[in-house]
This record gives sequence, C-alpha cells and structure tokens, in this order.
Amino acid sequence: MRTVQAVRFGGPEVLVPHEAAEPVVGPGQVRVEVSVVGLTFVGTQIRRGTDQWHARPDLPYVPGGTVAGRVSAVGEAVDPSWIGRPVLADAGGTGAFAERLSADAESLVPVPEGLGLREAAALHPDGSTATGLVEGARIAPGEWVLVEAAAGRVGSLLVQLARTAGARVIGIARGARKLDLIRSLGAEAAIDYSDPDWTEQVRRVTGGAGVDVVFDGVGGEIGRAAFELTARHGRFSVHGASSGGPTAIGPEEAQERGVEVIGIQQLYGFRPRMHDWAAQVMAEAVAGRVRPVVGQTFPLERAADAHAAIEGRTALGKTLLLV
Ligand SMILES: NC(=O)c1ccc[n+]([C@@H]2O[C@H](COP(=O)([O-])OP(=O)(O)OC[C@H]3O[C@@H](n4cnc5c(N)ncnc54)[C@H](OP(=O)(O)O)[C@@H]3O)[C@@H](O)[C@H]2O)c1
Repeated sequence: MRTVQAVRFGGPEVLVPHEAAEPVVGPGQVRVEVSVVGLTFVGTQIRRGTDQWHARPDLPYVPGGTVAGRVSAVGEAVDPSWIGRPVLADAGGTGAFAERLSADAESLVPVPEGLGLREAAALHPDGSTATGLVEGARIAPGEWVLVEAAAGRVGSLLVQLARTAGARVIGIARGARKLDLIRSLGAEAAIDYSDPDWTEQVRRVTGGAGVDVVFDGVGGEIGRAAFELTARHGRFSVHGASSGGPTAIGPEEAQERGVEVIGIQQLYGFRPRMHDWAAQVMAEAVAGRVRPVVGQTFPLERAADAHAAIEGRTALGKTLLLV
C-alpha cells in the first residue's frame, strides 16, 4: 500500500513516498481505509527532530496523527457494527500517512451525518482542543478575547468558539490573507502582529482597557506582549509556542498584575474529554455555528509540499492530505 515516510530528521524533503506492507489488525483494533490525513504544526517539529514533547520515532517512520476514513475490518473483541462507518481515528505516534492503517477501536470518533470527512478532519483534534481551551478560560459575554495565530488550525476555531461564548474577539496573525479570513470568522478586529505598533492597535480597539482573555499558541515575544495587554482579573491561557519558545511569565509577576495564567499543563488534563469535545464541535459545525477552515489540500504523495506550506506560514486553517 502507498505510504509516505520520513527517511531521516530534517526539512520537508525527508518525506518520501514508500510502498509498505498492509497493516495487521490486532485485538481491540480496527482497519481504517484512509481518505484524509490531518496535519498539525507539531508534526513538522517532530519531523525536524526539534519537538520536545513527544517520543522521537525510530527512523524511517511514517508520520502519525489523526485520519478520517471508513472502518473496513475489526479485530478480536471489537463491535462489528463499526464496519462501514465514517470515523476519525488516531494512528498514534506513527502510521497516519498511509492508504490504510490499524488503529485502536478506543481512538475512534464517529463522524456525524451531515459532516464531510475533510471537515471532520479539520475539527479534531484542533477543534476539540479549542473547545477545552474556551471552557477553561471561563469567558463571560461581552469580554474581549485576543487569539494569537488566529488564522491557524486551533486559532481559526478559537475565534469562532469564543464568539459563540459571547466574546468580542480580536484575532492577530501575519499577512493580509490571514486577516481577511479572521474577519470572515466573526472577529471584531484583525490585527497584523508584524506591524511594530500592533499592541497599541489592540489597546485602541478595547478603548484602552486591554483584553480579558488571551489564547497564547505562539509564545516568545508575541506571547510576552500579549501578556502585557491582559487586563487585571484577566486569564492568560497557554496552549503552544509555535514561535519556538514558550511565553516567560513569573508567578509573582502574574500575581502582581492580577492575571491568572492557565499554563500549558492544562493540555495534560484534556485527554479524557477529547472525544466529548470532538462530538460537541462537530455538532456545532453540523448546526452551522462553526465553520471548519480547510485552507489547502495536497495528494498523499506531496506530503513534503504540505509540510513546507505549514512551516512557511503560508497555510490558512487546516492542511489536509487526500489519499
Ligand atoms: N493542533 C492541535 O490540536 C494542538 C493541540 C495542542 C497544542 N497545540 C499547539 O498549539 C500551537 C498552534 O498549533 P496549530 O496546529 O494550530 O498551528 P497553527 O497555529 O496552524 O500554525 C502555527 C502558526 O504560528 C504562527 N507563528 C508565529 N510565529 C511563528 C514562527 N516563528 N514559525 C512558525 N509559525 C509561527 C504562524 O501564524 P502567522 O503566520 O499568522 O504568525 C503559524 O501559522 C502549536 O504550538 C501547537 O503545538 C496544538
């Protein structure tokens, strides 16, 4: 079967098409015929060998992640009614860039009627994570919410879910195409954080008060400046550091400023709730209240180009491989 594997750690060019043996379906597992592979930012860091959060795969490896497709076989002790159903499945640390894979039945999330496989793949895990982040930030109606990298995978969904929670949303990102997308998702303001005066622009939009909630997925200098913009009694919610380094905030400093920092450790508690949040965000999409943003698709064989688009910051919303 067709796969793409990383032959070493390095740039996107290390992703190379490869013919591999069919997957073996063990007890408690299912076989999934993959239609769509969802890509994440962290997958590019694992491929570069720079990620610090996941176990390093042995080389060569077929990259991991979430796929959307249909169940075509079940292993021992798995309910046969899964066969034929459209699902999202977690390949685990490796094995997603493939025509077929075996996945633990426990990882399956049914795709509801009325939602396409591409849209579903744009909503989980990104939208499930965004749902958890919005819940944790306890947004009150009318509060100002600042979303970093707001045209990205998690960011584009945070903008919409914060709006649904009644917030007034400011999305920040780089480049006019991304700002247009952010406005189309319902943000009240979209500001380019490559403008030297972007923080003043945010202050002006909020009438000088600053923001009540920040969703920090970028970290580094952007995250630090966003912390400075957080009003007293605000929440600074961290979920990533796509710029390379996390936002540095000391506990005394946060206390002095009267800002609650909800650290990246919050993500460790998300796992048991991810399936519920996936169902929730997919239901929102079926109801038309959330729009999954599939920004670009590539055939499986061109996985290297897809990773290059993500790393080059040209990608909007979710990037998918079509199998
Ligand atoms: N996807 C998930 O489910 C998930 C779950 C938990 C945590 N996270 C974390 O959340 C963060 C966002 O993940 P994502 O998958 O949604 O990615 P993403 O936001 O779609 O992509 C990362 C974005 O970061 C921005 N960025 C700013 N400085 C950058 C730099 N120096 N290099 C590259 N990009 C830079 C870019 O947007 P601009 O060009 O607009 O600046 C880029 O599009 C990551 O740190 C990730 O590890 C993601």
